[in-house]
Amino acid sequence: MEPIHVLTPHQRDELTAVLGAVPGNPYRDHREFVAGVAEVHAPRFLVEVCERVRQDRLNGLSEAHVLRDCPVDPHIPDLDLDDPVADKYRKKTTFVGEAFLALIARLTRTPLMAYGSRNNGDFFTDVIAINKYSGMQTGFSDSELPFHNDRTAHWARADHIALLGMRCPQDEVIYTTFVSGRALLRCLSDEDQEILRQPYFTTSFDVFSRATNSTQRSSGAHPILEGDHSIRYLETTTTVLPDAPGEAKDALLALKNALVVAEKQRHRLRDGDLLLFANQDGLHSRDRIEILNADRAATRWLLKTYAFRDQARADSFTGRWKDGVPGLIDD
Ligand SMILES: [Fe+2]
Repeated sequence: MEPIHVLTPHQRDELTAVLGAVPGNPYRDHREFVAGVAEVHAPRFLVEVCERVRQDRLNGLSEAHVLRDCPVDPHIPDLDLDDPVADKYRKKTTFVGEAFLALIARLTRTPLMAYGSRNNGDFFTDVIAINKYSGMQTGFSDSELPFHNDRTAHWARADHIALLGMRCPQDEVIYTTFVSGRALLRCLSDEDQEILRQPYFTTSFDVFSRATNSTQRSSGAHPILEGDHSIRYLETTTTVLPDAPGEAKDALLALKNALVVAEKQRHRLRDGDLLLFANQDGLHSRDRIEILNADRAATRWLLKTYAFRDQARADSFTGRWKDGVPGLIDD
């Protein structure tokens, strides 16, 4: 994908200095940290870029954007892939990437979201391979990921995802592919869309969710299409319920065909790339195109945030916050 903006070295260095001066540790006290980011005077170029992102989303022009040469921490530690989160707590002592992601959320007016049951409630999480999930179908493995929304099976799902490239081995060709809900709908008949809007479908939780939260087993009955062009689907896992009518299976096949032919946007993340895309108004996948060194590919590390589409959407979850922390889903 063509970046919507490439930061100049001057823009990046200035922002790195400002963000590096934000006090606090987001993994110890999230609220204190984001309060610090709220005080940051955002440079004019970034305000304008984020406003363009916002307008593209509102106008339906694009649900996926890239910013290039963004601020990241001056030192990116090597994480122990047996337990990368614990190792991150130990080794990551600067929070430039985290502050940048929080600033982007602020400027695009998409409040951050997190899950109480996952990563100790952290709002800044890692897309990184954890050794024990190797080869399994979860974002915490180093494997391919078919088209999905993050947390398909969960009752609370982010509207937007942000991925910041911390370590992206450049000789390993790994793409993030995005297909928008609008593009998918263009490839589906009205009849199939109508069936896909019925709660004839179900999705089980992935292996990581089941391991970290014993109550998370299955979504229950759900439609695949929701709202204007939202989609709730995890390829190879979302399936028809046993008592669903025959046309539900036909519509599911039509969706699978639509996914093959629909227009897609692909991006190969580099260090310092920020990739923003819709989680519900589209589907995304991870495609390992050419891996030369599997061990090196497994060191790929992206910093990730989830966000609500706007304040009203965040407010609709009021009463479900863990420990009263806005954005932290009590699950
Ligand atoms: Fe994902």
